[in-house]
Amino acid sequence: MPWYVRMGQLPPKRHIQFRRPDGGLYAEEVLGTEGFSGIQSILYHYYPPTRVKEFHTCYERRIEPIEEPVLQHRHFRTGEMPPSGDAITGRVELMFNENVIFSVARPIEQMDYFYKNADGDDLIFVHEGTGKLESQFGHLRFREGDYLIIPHGTIWRLVFDALPAKLVWIEAIGGQIETPKRYRNEYGQLMEHSPYCERDIRTPEELETRTDTGDFEVRIHRRGRVYAYHYEHHPFDVVGWDGYVYPWAFNIHDFEPITGRIHMPPPIHQTFEGPGFVVCSFCPRMLDYHPQAIPVPYNHSNLDSDEVLYYVNKKFGSRRGIEVGSITLHPSGIPHGPQPGAVEASLGATHTEEMAVMMDTFRPLQVAKAALELEDPNYPYSWLGAPIQRDDSGKTDTW
Ligand SMILES: [Fe+2]
Repeated sequence: MPWYVRMGQLPPKRHIQFRRPDGGLYAEEVLGTEGFSGIQSILYHYYPPTRVKEFHTCYERRIEPIEEPVLQHRHFRTGEMPPSGDAITGRVELMFNENVIFSVARPIEQMDYFYKNADGDDLIFVHEGTGKLESQFGHLRFREGDYLIIPHGTIWRLVFDALPAKLVWIEAIGGQIETPKRYRNEYGQLMEHSPYCERDIRTPEELETRTDTGDFEVRIHRRGRVYAYHYEHHPFDVVGWDGYVYPWAFNIHDFEPITGRIHMPPPIHQTFEGPGFVVCSFCPRMLDYHPQAIPVPYNHSNLDSDEVLYYVNKKFGSRRGIEVGSITLHPSGIPHGPQPGAVEASLGATHTEEMAVMMDTFRPLQVAKAALELEDPNYPYSWLGAPIQRDDSGKTDTW
């Protein structure tokens, strides 16, 4: 949704006759949000998109919450998670609420079907892997560190160059994932104080129109069930489209951190917003430069949000025992903060190499049973014990 985009062939006006080379009409489809009031795109198909030949329930997507939830901080290790399934079936759902589902996948198979989420926008953070996001809006190459934002209603699949890959999924249940409103002016343009701008955003690069026929399966996710829709025509039969709805990518390395003399709060790391949650990027940056600054965060109680952090590397100054692929959950209601020795160890440090993706939800999260298998049971007590030792082995003053 960043701006108006057009690709391929379009008639001069919307809703007028637009003919194929054989004289037949292309089939126009308005793919819109919020009942003709939100953003939309118009697609021109070679075949009517309504021509389904067979459909059935494919599977029920049951996410079981833990039976006796306890208010506690949690740490899940996904670094050693065994690869399984494809980008969709390989998801291990770890946390969820009425607004969002957070999961991690280590796909080992390519998708041999197409996918559409009818509920809300999908955000996929590509921790490991390269390939192509193919969709009816065209193809978009992706690489490590990319956030892929895929609007609901899009028919798509991921094609990896090599497997396994590692993906972090944030699925909105209803609604859009977009750039934070406070970064945009009244015209929709990202303003000077935004940590990234339109130049950093990639939109579909290549529109491939497929007119071949056969058996094509589109799996549609809606309200906890996945349905298999079979068509005789390839779903990427679009000759042209225009509008504001399309998949796009932003790489975490293109996030320009905002720094200050004293500790800056997490909203300066905000990257996206969704219905009932925000997503932030913690990136390598200069640390606070007041002569008496404490570069690690103070203890804090997030009274109205649950905080999930996915650690892309293990250089997170305020945490102990963090591995690549670790996830911490700090729920509202109890404080968390730097672990023993972290404050002292941080004094005078000038840089951090940390990289992490954070999701803050405004309604409490439920932990899924599957998460328990990855849990480090000692984490709630990790604020006790021996202090963190500063590591000055590197060439720079980095820890
Ligand atoms: Fe926090």
